[in-house]
Amino acid sequence: MQIIIGSDHAGVDMKKRLIEFLQQDGHQVIDCGTYSVEAVDYPDIAVKVCQKVIQQQLPGIVICGTGIGISIAANKINGIRAALCYDAYTASLARRHNDANVLALGARIIGPGLAQEIVKTFINTPFEGGRHQRRVNKIMELEAKS
Ligand code: RB5
Repeated sequence: MQIIIGSDHAGVDMKKRLIEFLQQDGHQVIDCGTYSVEAVDYPDIAVKVCQKVIQQQLPGIVICGTGIGISIAANKINGIRAALCYDAYTASLARRHNDANVLALGARIIGPGLAQEIVKTFINTPFEGGRHQRRVNKIMELEAKS
């Protein structure tokens, strides 16, 4: 699978670890930066990742210190359903019920092992459709109305 990833300076170490983890698992990772601990603004990273998610119809991962700022920014972009997950259960439900196409992680909140578990769950869990499709459609209709 191809996966788009990006982080601000607070998430750059976690991003590096997750890229290695995903590559070892056979995935191809497209890294949208940042590439050092020099401070950057997380909305800029959210835009870079999410544009590729929409254009290439691939899953995305965005990381900042808490995951909050970058998930808020990601959810402003048309077509994005970003879910901030701090455990594997919410990552599973974000896929099964919400068809989330972007996973947001907080590098200052969770450890590397948990981050790997969350990412693995997110990319391997399918959307259930059915009644959830109707609700996701209503979320997406909000974009057209605003
Ligand atoms: C950067 O210091 C920090 O504010 C950012 O990574 C994130 O936690 C924002 O939500």
